[in-house]
Amino acid sequence: MYNAKAYSAASKESPLAFTTIPRREPTESDVQIEILFCGICHSDLHQVRDEWSEVMPTVYPCVPGHEIVGRVTKVGSAVTGFKPGDLAAVGCMVDSDRTCPECQAGQEQFCPNFILTYNFPDKHLGGVTYGGYSDSIVVDQKFVLQVPNNLDLAGVAPLLCAGITTYSPMRHWGVTKGKKVGIVGLGGLGHMGVKFAHALGAHVVVFSTSPNKKEDALRLGADEVVISRNADEMEKQTGSFDFILDAVSADHDINAYINLLRRDGNLTLVGAPNKPLAVAAFALIMGRRSLSGSPIGGIAETQEMLNFCGEHGITADVEVLPIQKVNEAYERLLKSDVKYRFSIDMASLKSEQ
Ligand SMILES: NC(=O)c1ccc[n+]([C@@H]2O[C@H](COP(=O)([O-])OP(=O)(O)OC[C@H]3O[C@@H](n4cnc5c(N)ncnc54)[C@H](OP(=O)(O)O)[C@@H]3O)[C@@H](O)[C@H]2O)c1
Ligand SMILES: [Zn+2]
Ligand SMILES: [Zn+2]
Repeated sequence: MYNAKAYSAASKESPLAFTTIPRREPTESDVQIEILFCGICHSDLHQVRDEWSEVMPTVYPCVPGHEIVGRVTKVGSAVTGFKPGDLAAVGCMVDSDRTCPECQAGQEQFCPNFILTYNFPDKHLGGVTYGGYSDSIVVDQKFVLQVPNNLDLAGVAPLLCAGITTYSPMRHWGVTKGKKVGIVGLGGLGHMGVKFAHALGAHVVVFSTSPNKKEDALRLGADEVVISRNADEMEKQTGSFDFILDAVSADHDINAYINLLRRDGNLTLVGAPNKPLAVAAFALIMGRRSLSGSPIGGIAETQEMLNFCGEHGITADVEVLPIQKVNEAYERLLKSDVKYRFSIDMASLKSEQ
């Protein structure tokens, strides 16, 4: 065991603050990574403030962070794909049972026994897993991803959650050229959704509550931008979408978007507000529309997504910040004031004692 530097929250009311945490010495199948950048996902904020207490209650102290990119510092004797000095990345999962049908199918995100990167039982050290707001992490090689070497690392980190969470449902629901795709909420997930839908050849419409994001949405790859508070603009889009990805972090009216789907169209929720959303039966009945959810993606698909980003030169648009500004960043997330993902430069942890 060794101590790593980290930022943790002591309770749901506490700001994140410097601490040290135990990490295991790498076992034979482990990869030890020096973390260079970690993205700030809105899920980190939900979890730190225990907003998902009914589904995933938070265990304190909580070290969030599941958009991790860094450099390998040590590998166990059985590790094949990584050596010291290589780039490596870790997303939302660090383990699963590897034997259930979902794991066998390469869909670890549905494994009933998966271990998330933070706030899940740590079978090695006891207690819970600690995430990427830290200078170091040790993860089994099966859950470590290869990073294309042509991409900016600060912008790669968010691909590990915001990237795969938007890429996976688009592949599942067949987003391709000729499809009309809506993206609701231009935050961390939403802006990656725009980039992927555009790269997959779809006609992309962004729905935003923030009029000041219009130019950015077009630059990111949107063909149209609708300010969702404008009823006339919304009305014009009725019944026209094959697929809508809803990436909103707070309570909102999803019926307004279900009504924009054409026959057999699908709306997938990736945003995870803590309060239940009301669904109007007739919005779904008329047009045989469907409503789904989607969690992150499996390890193989995450690697496919990273390779796709390497080929297409896709990274997140990031605002790089030192970890000392993380609490300020959380307040800005709550105001939809992020362009379009915060990425923590972990070199800033070096000055903390
Ligand atoms: N399914 C999964 O596996 C998964 C993975 C990661 C994250 N998530 C969840 O996805 C959600 C989004 O995460 P994120 O990191 O992308 O968050 P984010 O960067 O904060 O973006 C959320 C966006 O939602 C819009 N929004 C915020 N409040 C709103 C409101 N009251 N009404 C309407 N729109 C509002 C804003 O976009 P505009 O300014 O454009 O309106 C905002 O930028 C979170 O709930 C997160 O927990 C789920
Ligand atoms: Zn996330
Ligand atoms: Zn499994």
